[in-house]
Amino acid sequence: MNLFADLHDRAKELLEPAIHDYYAGGAADEFALADNENSFARLALLPRMLRGGPPPEPRVDLPGAPGAAPVLVAPTAFHRLAHPEGELATARAAAATGTVLISSMAATTAVDEVVAAAREVRSDAAVWFQLYLQPDPEVTARLVERAESAGCTALVVTVDSPVFGDHVRDRRNGFHDLPPGYEAANMRDLPGGPPGGTRDIEMSPEISWRHLEVLRATTALPVLLKGILHPDDAHLAVAQGVDGIIVSNHGGRQLDAAPAPIDVLPRITRAIGGTLPLLLDGGVRRGTDVVTALALGAEAVGIGRPVLWGLAADGEKGVREVLDRIGADVVRAMALCGVRGPDDLTANLVVPRGFGGL
Ligand code: FNR
Repeated sequence: MNLFADLHDRAKELLEPAIHDYYAGGAADEFALADNENSFARLALLPRMLRGGPPPEPRVDLPGAPGAAPVLVAPTAFHRLAHPEGELATARAAAATGTVLISSMAATTAVDEVVAAAREVRSDAAVWFQLYLQPDPEVTARLVERAESAGCTALVVTVDSPVFGDHVRDRRNGFHDLPPGYEAANMRDLPGGPPGGTRDIEMSPEISWRHLEVLRATTALPVLLKGILHPDDAHLAVAQGVDGIIVSNHGGRQLDAAPAPIDVLPRITRAIGGTLPLLLDGGVRRGTDVVTALALGAEAVGIGRPVLWGLAADGEKGVREVLDRIGADVVRAMALCGVRGPDDLTANLVVPRGFGGL
């Protein structure tokens, strides 16, 4: 059970099985996928009592998103497969709840339309653009231009995908690409692609810090790296001058042997905490998970699959329900822990479950 189990059940009833599997699945044996949720169950919170004060106000300042909710919409591909309004529905729901939307490069709606939908609801809605660095820097540069002219306020560069993870469920279901009638709309009219058509997103082990340097030279937008797990890479990211890190194992969809992000967050916080904003995603399903991540050094967290379940279950209303539920649950969890907001959350509130502190 988690906060979104009913929405997941509804989504599963409505979606074609192969599409449900594409969203739900992980790589290989799905160890990392399972561990992402289990890792939070291995931790407990030591609440403080009788502290007085107003109800908690969980707002945070993030790059290109002042006063945002501490739960972001993580970038996920292909929203039109969940609901006909696709990314537009997600964007409206995120904007209405003051939630940062990280719009995927692999979206089925172009980023300018996504940002426009969010800004119709709220003129200062923050949308970040997620991209995979492409071997041809011209292609990356064109994508960045698109995100900039759309009005995105930050870039999220996903670095954990030198190749595709081994998605066993998709292989079994023969789900290899978007079905006819859908397109990865951001990939239209790019250098090397067919005129008027879309080019493929390339994943390549050639991609290096050098490509990142080239990207950073072409944009003034803040750049966050998504998919860092090793503290040494966190140090390198600081040395490169990036604006934030999202500790993530891609929802268990890339390296199946990767640890759960919450299990490595303390090491990364010890290595570089305080020098730049740390975010985390993977397995966050309750307000207490958010509180745990913030206590261990994250500024904010992302949720991926729950948004897809809300979208499939009930479009914009369903995504709104997901974001409202987790928002209220964060306030409840903070109140139960006796904290007034993110600034009060410190690592000494978190203990391993089953450890009596003797
Ligand atoms: C993803 N994720 C992802 N990440 C990214 O950087 N670009 C992308 O296009 C996608 N696409 C994508 C599709 C689907 C169906 C899923 C489930 C995930 C990873 C995503 O941003 C995030 O890291 C995880 O989803 C977080 O884990 P939870 O909340 O789903 O457990």
